[in-house]
Amino acid sequence: MSKARADFVVVANRLPVDLERFEDGTERWKHSPGGLVTALEPFLRAREGAWVGWPGVADVDVDPFSDGDLHLHPVHLSSTDIRQYYEGFANATLWPLYHDVVAPPVFDRSWWENYRRVNQRFAEAAAEVSAEGATVWVQDYQLQLVPAMLRELRPDLRIGFFLHIPFPPVELFMQLPWRTEIVRGLLGADLVGFHRPGGAQNFLWLARRLAGFEPSRAQVGVRSRPGVVRVGDRTVRVGAFPISIASAELDQLARTKEVQQRAKAIRSELGNPRRIMLGVDRLDYTKGIDVRLNAIHELLADGQITVEDVAMIQVATPSRERVEHYKQMREEIEREVGRINGEFGRVGHPAVHYLHTSVDRKDLAAFYCAADVMVVTPVRDGMNLVAKEYVACRNDLGGSLVLSEFAGAAAELTSAFLVNPHNLDGVKDSLLAALDLDEAEGRRRMRALRRQVLTHDVDRWARSFLEALGTSLVA
Ligand code: ADP
Ligand code: G6P
Repeated sequence: MSKARADFVVVANRLPVDLERFEDGTERWKHSPGGLVTALEPFLRAREGAWVGWPGVADVDVDPFSDGDLHLHPVHLSSTDIRQYYEGFANATLWPLYHDVVAPPVFDRSWWENYRRVNQRFAEAAAEVSAEGATVWVQDYQLQLVPAMLRELRPDLRIGFFLHIPFPPVELFMQLPWRTEIVRGLLGADLVGFHRPGGAQNFLWLARRLAGFEPSRAQVGVRSRPGVVRVGDRTVRVGAFPISIASAELDQLARTKEVQQRAKAIRSELGNPRRIMLGVDRLDYTKGIDVRLNAIHELLADGQITVEDVAMIQVATPSRERVEHYKQMREEIEREVGRINGEFGRVGHPAVHYLHTSVDRKDLAAFYCAADVMVVTPVRDGMNLVAKEYVACRNDLGGSLVLSEFAGAAAELTSAFLVNPHNLDGVKDSLLAALDLDEAEGRRRMRALRRQVLTHDVDRWARSFLEALGTSLVA
């Protein structure tokens, strides 16, 4: 094997950087959106690994390149691949199906065919860059066929797979016309990881029902006691590994003078309201942005809050803008923001400050530090790293977190105000309770949240996964 091949390879739909092209022909690389990149990038940089993924633009060929200690191997996707594999099968079939069908999934045979072809291309790219006996860690729902395809090409590799989104209840998964192929694809890995034991348990059931293998029967634990499936002469482990963030780094960033000053500036630019509420999300219909807007609308209408007293900021990163459900949702959210501001806003005091943009890490930390109430209300979310980021930024023990029970993070962040996003009265009550929280009680809650987030960071997540995979990389 050539020297240039890597011992540790991450394979994900996206590279951690996205190519941006401007009309004048210039280009630049920018940070890719989403929780997967936030979590994996710091870990991989520290290990000089290779990352195989799409550079974010259709129909371009980009040569492999290095970014510091990270070796990036771009995979070509044509505009047809983007339409059928990425916007189609990944984001209009699997994404809604795995998020409890909050939008109806579309089942299209040509999308599926393209998904298969693109997965094969990723498997071939991974086979090419991996050294003899390397560890390859395949990521997320876009690449569920890669483990089996890669094993076929390179039986010498140790292959892990992690799903960053929820794994659905079996009744929903069974709707998928290509359900058996997906289960067999995942069983090509040596270890299949989910955020929650429930996802692992569902997958074990499907391995028997759809692929005819006999799985172990003991309950799967968090980071321990993985389930086991015998697949021919191989053993596939199936476990739960809740993902996290680089908590200590974010904690340090939030303590810097620059971030603290920016946080003060945000408060004063808002006219120093008594309370600031904050939402930070990719603009995705699973995030429940409409839920919090409806709650705020009613609280203002009932006179339980006023725009002089409480300011709401919603920062929403543009996402998957050509997928129909995303277009519709953006229109609905922006109409509702307009309606609330039209009805309740005063000169100098809009009710909702809506920013349709992505912000850099320092600004994000400053928003978190400035916010008295962080509002995280997804109707379904694999983990939700935003909730953990907020906690990591609050070394002052200030601020409260309102968190949906339907986010994976709710299982760990039990000292948050946990809400059912389908129960609007409950959401309103929790927002009011968080806005008027007694300081000592707030500090007690935040201390407990910080203990959890600072001790369970992304490094621990990756180590526990790789340990269960049995790789020697976890020194
Ligand atoms: P998802 O992976 O579904 O997008 P997560 O909450 O797990 O959801 O992760 C989102 C990541 O993207 C977090 O690291 C968060 O800080 C980042 N992010 C979300 N919205 C923005 C934004 N408007 N600007 C900058 N970063 C953002
Ligand atoms: C979530 C998914 C990731 C995805 C990210 C951004 O975090 O789990 O796989 O990369 O959203 O979405 P996008 O479609 O822009 O890559």
